[in-house]
Amino acid sequence: MKLFVATHNPHKLREIGEILPDFTVCAEDPDVEETAPDFAGNALIKARAIAALHEGCWVMADDSGLEVEALGGEPGVRSARYAGEPTNTPANNALLLKNLAGKTDRRAHFTCCVALVDPQGREHVVEGRCYGTIAQAASGAGGFGYDPLFVPDGYDKSFAELTADEKNAISHRGRALAEVKRLLAGASVL
Ligand code: IMP
Repeated sequence: MKLFVATHNPHKLREIGEILPDFTVCAEDPDVEETAPDFAGNALIKARAIAALHEGCWVMADDSGLEVEALGGEPGVRSARYAGEPTNTPANNALLLKNLAGKTDRRAHFTCCVALVDPQGREHVVEGRCYGTIAQAASGAGGFGYDPLFVPDGYDKSFAELTADEKNAISHRGRALAEVKRLLAGASVL
């Protein structure tokens, strides 16, 4: 069975294919602006755009980002372009450290929302979170984005110092995809 996924990120596609081996995962470019104020809204905008192209199929889109308590939830839906357009990861990470300078509360969490549209056109949204803290300095060379700064609760290493399997087991995206798997199993698709 085909699953159209609104991403061209090869890491995400591989991860989704590994977690949902019963589907043939096909990449699609939603070509829409992510204008919603939250992750669920943006995931739905992308999923609906792809569903309009593939009626009668399963469609999936995700949206994720980092929310920092002491910054009132920033960078949130602006995580990719926190320091401006185009996306600049070193600048985003530097700005985050600057904005947290002198703050003792460094709690943060990643959120990932996944929107699914089923072959009947019904919409489903699931969410996964990973809680942790923002380190004083970057460490590790793995992962992407804010990974070198994010230390998940219960660990003394950043996301960038974990293996891909270790990160997937506890990450916001891994948890949201586990929910997707449960949802599909409940729909007797798996
Ligand atoms: P996307 O919606 O998954 O493309 O994520 C948007 C932005 O959130 C990314 O460009 C990163 O800045 C940040 N982000 C999302 N997930 C992660 C993660 O697992 N590690 C580090 N940064 C992430």
